[in-house]
Amino acid sequence: MFKRHYSDPDVPTVTIRFEGEAIEARATDTVAAALLIAGVTATRTTPVTGQPRAPYCMMGVCFDCLMVIDGEGDRQACLVPVAEGMTVSRQNRTIEVVR
Ligand code: FES
Repeated sequence: MFKRHYSDPDVPTVTIRFEGEAIEARATDTVAAALLIAGVTATRTTPVTGQPRAPYCMMGVCFDCLMVIDGEGDRQACLVPVAEGMTVSRQNRTIEVVR
């Protein structure tokens, strides 16, 4: 779905782990960009309905890219640069709505 239009051959690659799967990324990628290029679209689910969400704005505004990065939740994947050995997983939280 997404592909890189330009790749500087001088930029080194790093390996991150998304839910246990190794993903190669460029050292200049954000987590969201690396995952989109790798074919991962859902980065979190909504707390109330459990619907999947994907990165949308890619600039820190929409919060649809919230993920668990290196064990810490509520990280905006579009703002976090990848790093060698980083672990990433979808953020799947639920809340009970009382009406
Ligand atoms: S994609 Fe919108 S805040 Fe990250």
